[in-house]
Amino acid sequence: MSQDRIKSLLHEDRSYLPPRHGKDVARIRSRREYDALCELARTDNDSFWAERARALLHWFKPWDKVQDTDFNEPRVRWFVGGRLNAAYNCVDRHIISDRRNKAALIWQGEREMEVRAYTYQMLYTDVCRVAAALNALNIKKGDRVALYLPMIPELVVAMLACARIGAVHTNIFTGYADGGVQSRIHDSGARLVITADAVMRGGEPKPLKSNLDRILNHCPSVEKVLVVNRANTEVNMLKGRDIWWQDLLDDFTLDADFPCVSMDAEDPLFILHTSGSTGRPTGVIHSTGGYLTYAAHTAQWVFDLKDTDVYWCTADCGWITGHSYLVYGPLSLGATTIMFEGTPTWPRPDRYWRIVEKFRVNILYTAPTVIRSLMRQGVEWTNHYDLSSLRILGSVGEPLNPEAWMWYHTYIGKGELPIVDTWWQTESGGIMLSPLPYATHIKPGSVTKPLPGIEAGIMSGDGSDDCAQEGGHLVIRKPWPGLMTGVFQNPEKFKSYFNRFPGCYLSGDGARVDEEGNYWILGRMDDAINVSGHRLSTSEIESVLIAHPAVGEAAVVPMPHEIKGEAIYAYVAVKKEVEWSETLRKELRTWVRSQIGALASPEQIQFVSELPKTLSGKTVRRILRKIASGDNLESLGDTTTLAHPEVLEDIYNNYLKLKVGQPEK
Ligand code: WT7
Repeated sequence: MSQDRIKSLLHEDRSYLPPRHGKDVARIRSRREYDALCELARTDNDSFWAERARALLHWFKPWDKVQDTDFNEPRVRWFVGGRLNAAYNCVDRHIISDRRNKAALIWQGEREMEVRAYTYQMLYTDVCRVAAALNALNIKKGDRVALYLPMIPELVVAMLACARIGAVHTNIFTGYADGGVQSRIHDSGARLVITADAVMRGGEPKPLKSNLDRILNHCPSVEKVLVVNRANTEVNMLKGRDIWWQDLLDDFTLDADFPCVSMDAEDPLFILHTSGSTGRPTGVIHSTGGYLTYAAHTAQWVFDLKDTDVYWCTADCGWITGHSYLVYGPLSLGATTIMFEGTPTWPRPDRYWRIVEKFRVNILYTAPTVIRSLMRQGVEWTNHYDLSSLRILGSVGEPLNPEAWMWYHTYIGKGELPIVDTWWQTESGGIMLSPLPYATHIKPGSVTKPLPGIEAGIMSGDGSDDCAQEGGHLVIRKPWPGLMTGVFQNPEKFKSYFNRFPGCYLSGDGARVDEEGNYWILGRMDDAINVSGHRLSTSEIESVLIAHPAVGEAAVVPMPHEIKGEAIYAYVAVKKEVEWSETLRKELRTWVRSQIGALASPEQIQFVSELPKTLSGKTVRRILRKIASGDNLESLGDTTTLAHPEVLEDIYNNYLKLKVGQPEK
């Protein structure tokens, strides 16, 4: 972790008190209430979670035991013996209440005039119809269904329809290239894939179905493909395998009702893959009872979500944020959730503010990379719009640097709104460390404190826990309902989160705690890189590079990037007979993009004659990381363990050349 980062954070001494306006009616009104809740969760953890689960969800049958958890095993079981259904909680129970005709989902298409709104009643009808269709396709409880869909309402409907019949959805981000899509479908063993002909980007359709066609030969588990017509583009429909979503649903003569399957609290609700430390993605499993309780609980407290709010989470449903805070959290609370198909800058960089004004959004939850890129566009794009409906701003995915924090606060929050910088992970299911908007004293750049019930801590490398101030490994010491219950087909991987520090969940992040108990996230301690808030594995990118015929060896490290936070820097040693060239550099970029996706495309590729290695032949990434971060030759630390320390000078000089746009050599 970079010492400079710690130093700059240490100098951050601005702080903001919670706003007075809105405090009286807030869910958590004061620091005192927050403290009392923490105390309650500490002294009677089971009652704390039981009370939340009861208050927030409808259970067909109450649980026999609140938790049966043990980090040493590891064993994660919540609400044992309880029965419920996630779709029932997100839809059915609202249509027998005053919310029946309330907007559940407002969809803003990529084009301004394309808007669709679903009331809870309308959502119910569509979810039932799709559930009936899935049933007709013989999809059963426990079967996996891959959702490779753009940000269109059909995606939310498909998720809830799966939940309704007990099928396990596994969403695949449409930005992944063939390799990423294939490994996820393959790992999950999906019987059905739901996709669309294309996804709209910048006014143009970009094909999805034809990508899928290329890889399905390698995914033997897939029996059927349902295709949503999004963009009226030409697609190949394979007879006996591919079915138009519209045809299937139009044809459906069944009732508008389709029963919910009563699920065990521990039955999986979905699998979502995150980048693993090896080439293979990690299929994080989330349960029905624990996950849904935690998504609803955190959405309600962190965003102070009320029935009258219009709430907008800008994340794609291909990521965990879209699962917990676009779909399951807000809908289980009966809220109005906005879904946006487009990007912040098309056709102009005012898209977000236009949407806020148009739907009078009250709560906006977005990512630092978006904030930084909009900040660069200048304030004329924000000043033009009425943003006065906003009352809470949120951020997630990577550190929100103080400069971006100030911009968000000043120009979007008009100097008044609280910003909840929320730290969590795919594995945690929901927000773990975050301010509560009306109760927390906020420091820009800090994620402030653990939510009530979350026992966080900092461990040094040797397992002692007295390094909170200097920084160390961020761990969680007590189970919480949102925690994943396993890793699909990979129990060893699941164990790896718990075996480094006995009794603790290892987050993989570094953090420090200041004198006031505020947490400052310092970035990943493992080999993950966080590009624009998305976790990528360096070894996955390395294996793709090495698979290219010209490449002998490769090492991938993060480099700082003004907008993306971190970007990818690749050192490549080519095979003997291969020349270093711009053409090859381009080819390698395209290669990585085609194998994993645009997110993984290296920002810079530097050719090297040899990678720095220890005598035992291990690549010393620590040094390569420092060079890519702009450290000079003198500050690279101990280089005496290298087999050929002299290679460093060359690597460093070539780094400098590339930086000013000259090729190496
Ligand atoms: C990693 C998790 C949680 C949904 C989005 C990403 C980083 C997340 C913050 C934050 C600093 C953050 C961490 C974490 N991260 N939120 N507020 N401040 N860093 O989910 O792909 O599972 O990645 O994102 O490094 O471990 P993910």
